[in-house]
Amino acid sequence: MKLLVTGGAGFIGANFVHYTLGHRPGHSITVLDALTYAGNEANLSTVKDKIRFVKGNITDTKLVDELVAEHDIVVHFAAESHNDNSLKDPSPFIQTNLIGTFTILEAVRKHGKRLHHISTDEVYGDLELDDPAKFTADTPYNPSSPYSSSKAGSDLLVRAWVRSFGIHATISNCSNNYGPYQHVEKFIPRQITNILTGEKPKLYGQGENVRDWIHVDDHNAAVWSIIEHGRNGETYLIGADGELNNKVVLELILELMDKPKDWYDHVNDRPGHDMRYAIDATKLRNELGWRPTYTNFRDGLAATIAWYAQNEDWWKPQKAETEQKYKNQGH
Ligand code: NAD
Ligand code: TYD
Repeated sequence: MKLLVTGGAGFIGANFVHYTLGHRPGHSITVLDALTYAGNEANLSTVKDKIRFVKGNITDTKLVDELVAEHDIVVHFAAESHNDNSLKDPSPFIQTNLIGTFTILEAVRKHGKRLHHISTDEVYGDLELDDPAKFTADTPYNPSSPYSSSKAGSDLLVRAWVRSFGIHATISNCSNNYGPYQHVEKFIPRQITNILTGEKPKLYGQGENVRDWIHVDDHNAAVWSIIEHGRNGETYLIGADGELNNKVVLELILELMDKPKDWYDHVNDRPGHDMRYAIDATKLRNELGWRPTYTNFRDGLAATIAWYAQNEDWWKPQKAETEQKYKNQGH
């Protein structure tokens, strides 16, 4: 197949490109990425001879139309992806996540191509800490932030284009990812790189908020299961039963990096901060036979810490600016 991977220079998209070259050889890959603050061509430097890279915006109708026409499937990762940024300035989230997805849908419709749309579990809102429930594909949409609501809107556009225009599309909603190449603005890389630069980690509120962690390779393996065996028009939730609260994750990072358990600062909480996310991935497991391989979070986290320790040149250039942004927000 000829794959058009939007957002392939970002965290999950770049890992998808590496995963595909390693586990699904024989496909051709074009990456379309605008190289925003979150995109980094260096994420693809080791594979640049094996793929085609196009610097461009998913809101560029002409470019998207031409590229979609030349490919069999669009795997759509490109998005503005960070909640804290969306609270400061929602505008790029509306442009990229809504207008950008609309632009891709129109090209997919015109040329009769397939789409796999990558989304998040945050479209479902949050759960109470003591609620035994988890998100399923039947959970009503109830997003909290400009980020999650723009992703929810993009999902609904995809569903409408399937129903009204008969396009061939699938959707996946995944929980929080961790692994190499994640921007230092996100929780786990921020704390690891703080410690590596001698700065104390920063915990929002009391750190009771729960996230359902999954290794990025397990996410991308699931995306491939859906591309190969998913049913047209269906939504699949991706999660690996990795619920942990932020304080526990931070204490584990501190332990693995030989720091005292309480060596961190409490900082301002995020407005509207979602309490808990939890995925019920029964449909993905039973229908498509997917299973996660990173079942030991401690080991996956240790490998991620080692990656950041060995790749200082990769994250150092973004670190000071990111911390300044956080300081301005009281985080
Ligand atoms: P990221 O911010 O690391 O990467 C996003 C990429 O998209 C960057 O390379 C950026 O340059 C590119 N991009 C942004 N706007 C663009 C535009 N207008 N045109 C072209 N390219 C553009 O994000 P990520 O964490 O890799 O997330 C990828 C996808 O996965 C997103 O759709 C996100 O909603 C979803 N997701 C993320 C997580 C997570 O934990 N990070 C969990 C579930 C779902
Ligand atoms: P984040 O990585 O931003 O992902 P999301 O908001 O999509 O879940 O944050 C994960 C959790 O960590 C979230 O509950 C907010 C919290 N957090 C901190 O406690 N400190 C930080 O410095 C950051 C960036 C996040």
